[in-house]
Amino acid sequence: GTMGFEKAWLNYYKSDNLAMRDYFTVVTYNKDDSIVKSAVLELTTAAKELFSIDIESSLCDMKSDVDKTRKGIHFQIGDNKDLENEGYRISLADEMLLIEAYTSNGILYGTFDLIRSTILGADVHSFNRTIFPKNPLRMLNHWDNMDGSIERGYSGNSFFFEHGEVIVNERTKAYARLVSSVGINAVVINNVNVRGTATNLITNRYIDKLKQIGEIFASYGIKLYLSLNFAAPMELGGLTSADPLDEEVRLWWKKEVQLLFKEIPSFGGFLVKADSEGRPGPFTYQRTHAEGANMLAEAVKPYGGLIIWRCFVYNCKQDWRDMKTDRARASFDNFQSLDGDFAENVILQVKNGPMDFQVREPISPLFGGMKKTNLMLEVQIAQEYTGQQRHVCYLIPMFKEILKFRTYCKEENDTVFDIVSGNTYGNKNAGMAAVANTGNDDNWTGHDLAAANLYGYGRLSFDPDLTSEEIAKEWITLTFGMKEHVIDYISKILMMSWPAYEKYTSPLGIGWMVNPSHHYGPNVDGYEYDRWGTYHKADHTAIGVDRTKNGTGYTTQYHQPNQELYGTPETCPEELLLFFHRIPYTYQLKTGKTLIQHIYDSHFEGVEDVEEMVKLWEELKGKLEEVPYHRVLHRLQEQLEHSKEWRDVICSYFYRKTAIGDKKGRELY
Ligand code: GCU
Repeated sequence: GTMGFEKAWLNYYKSDNLAMRDYFTVVTYNKDDSIVKSAVLELTTAAKELFSIDIESSLCDMKSDVDKTRKGIHFQIGDNKDLENEGYRISLADEMLLIEAYTSNGILYGTFDLIRSTILGADVHSFNRTIFPKNPLRMLNHWDNMDGSIERGYSGNSFFFEHGEVIVNERTKAYARLVSSVGINAVVINNVNVRGTATNLITNRYIDKLKQIGEIFASYGIKLYLSLNFAAPMELGGLTSADPLDEEVRLWWKKEVQLLFKEIPSFGGFLVKADSEGRPGPFTYQRTHAEGANMLAEAVKPYGGLIIWRCFVYNCKQDWRDMKTDRARASFDNFQSLDGDFAENVILQVKNGPMDFQVREPISPLFGGMKKTNLMLEVQIAQEYTGQQRHVCYLIPMFKEILKFRTYCKEENDTVFDIVSGNTYGNKNAGMAAVANTGNDDNWTGHDLAAANLYGYGRLSFDPDLTSEEIAKEWITLTFGMKEHVIDYISKILMMSWPAYEKYTSPLGIGWMVNPSHHYGPNVDGYEYDRWGTYHKADHTAIGVDRTKNGTGYTTQYHQPNQELYGTPETCPEELLLFFHRIPYTYQLKTGKTLIQHIYDSHFEGVEDVEEMVKLWEELKGKLEEVPYHRVLHRLQEQLEHSKEWRDVICSYFYRKTAIGDKKGRELY
């Protein structure tokens, strides 16, 4: 809770990698800033915990004082431009392990790599590599409110805010270590929905505490960002408008942002949710998103600041009779025509799919749809629609599919990864963001296995070439130790978890069959008959919305051949069939099964998968520490119960709608 917290994957067990032991005896470094100090501190901790060694450390220059004939580690920051952008090189120079970098962040990442590799059993001769983070920004977005609650938070309360105040304590530092160890370099600490007290975060009222957080973050190479309220000139400044073209408003912002940048050298800029789900924005003044974003961009530009502007803009009050409005189209319709209008220090942050973090969605067509605009990918590791950290759902395989998706915006280098890393169009303001899944629970993420998503997101945004299995294996070994069966079984559980969740929840890309507002548990028609409607339009013959050119036209937002691929039920990837098409229950799928039979089968299979996950976990009894073993067992048992509820609610809904029974004769209610 509030006081206690665990070390998660930085919980070092004694290592039997004895060949590496001798290197953890001395560390020298040629530059002594706060980040390098952190790297030295990390080596000191690792040496102590892995090998019970008190490492010696000292400042000295490679050229003159470093003794290369003695085993040890040396950090060398130099002018090797090849290592720009947070890269590092680890190699064996005579007897010494050398970590070279151009930036201090490079040294820190090299150090975490060295520690991790040592734990994973690396041989010293394997160190001969040059590594760069592949995304410039590797960001976490916390949706923490100042009263201490977390919007879509499933692991306790905020460790950034409490009772309307900013908090700084040991946990702040532990957090910085944790996320920096996987390469995170930017963090937004407050919710995108900025209301009430949170509007004041940009004023001098909270500056002392923010400065302290800024310093802690900075020493781990992390820039601090805040979410802001577009209507702040009115709410705080007493102006009569927040019109982005109003000179007074522009001046107000310029003055207001000075403080943060001046007081917090590592302040990065702002994240903005505007004209979205009731938040204020430029629409009120008949201005475009570009005009809104550019006004703020101009204000932060003198300090090298960034404006990250979210594209989650849609009509959340769509009338059910209105067959033309399609929420899926909304981001593209709102932003695509503004391509080229945004300032250089604006990045548009686009959710992975056109809806909202469902278990299965197509890729947002804004990726590939904008060529002269900086884009960033937004994913959610808070499992809002994927089991809320009560169900295990390892999301890294999903994120890999997203990154690999070919948009066909160009002949090559056209994947989502290429676009958001800056490869496609050569832009440097780009990267990835994830809605964070942490809170003040002892284990940080509620479900112990949900920490794999936090770890995995960081590692993947740093190096998208890592496989989901590699990441899982790293995380398991670091968290639970290098133990027989532990790695195999937990890997297996993680790797089967996303498919399992998909099977027992909403079928074939349709999404949304959850209870409105809190979004946990099955409710097929919950959003069907809600004011905030998002529709599947199921009747007794068919289900789904035609989003092709004959329907809402959503598919035309993609380049060819994707447009064509999604355009017919025959060519559409089946996992997305009901997202793009309206399909009769008797339609025959590629497996030869009818749609209705597929719904029954997948739901029974999903529950069987969870049964297997429980069994695999039970096999680990005695091999893991008691507390985490029981915590996870408890959640898996609950998941099993809830997956049965999903199965039964979904199956009986479709059974009663269609009056078609299960071919396999299983009991449907
Ligand atoms: C979802 C989520 C909200 C959140 C919103 C957003 O709709 O349910 O809680 O505010 O996304 O991303 O802004």
